[in-house]
Amino acid sequence: MIKVLFVCLGNICRSPMAEAYFRHLVEKEGLSDHFVIDSGGMGSWHTGKSPHQGTQAKLDEKQISYQGITARQVTAEDLDAFDYVIAMDDQNIADLSTIKKEAPTAAVAKLMDYLDSTSMKNVPDPYFTGDFDQTYALIEAGCQALLDEIKKANQLN
Ligand code: 4NP
Repeated sequence: MIKVLFVCLGNICRSPMAEAYFRHLVEKEGLSDHFVIDSGGMGSWHTGKSPHQGTQAKLDEKQISYQGITARQVTAEDLDAFDYVIAMDDQNIADLSTIKKEAPTAAVAKLMDYLDSTSMKNVPDPYFTGDFDQTYALIEAGCQALLDEIKKANQLN
């Protein structure tokens, strides 16, 4: 199994959107049996909550399921249990390095690292920008690039 964890600050806007979109992509490509897909937040404020209304509205518009997705906090164990830990911004990366001092087993990267053709290095936080369309567009492109990379690395087709 290839285990992928998406990480953001609250686990209600960006990372659940990425989790839902990535799961949708993997299903579309007939690769569901190969993957475990999850998301988590650096903070615990929203533990147990469903995605933010703006994330739900965007996923509804695109007919992408977010059924069963609830917020949880990222733990040090996640950094060894997952193969890919995919953060939304530089602050997430900095925060991840504080919860586990030793080198993680997981490959830790930002979603935007997988895109060559964008000036955006971070996925803006729509909790503050209010722009869920921009966030969705970046997540859509980033997740496709991430899946392509994972397929190549794991010889999946
Ligand atoms: P997210 O957005 O990291 O994309 O889920 C946020 C959601 C909630 C908060 C911050 C960011 N908050 O401070 O409650």
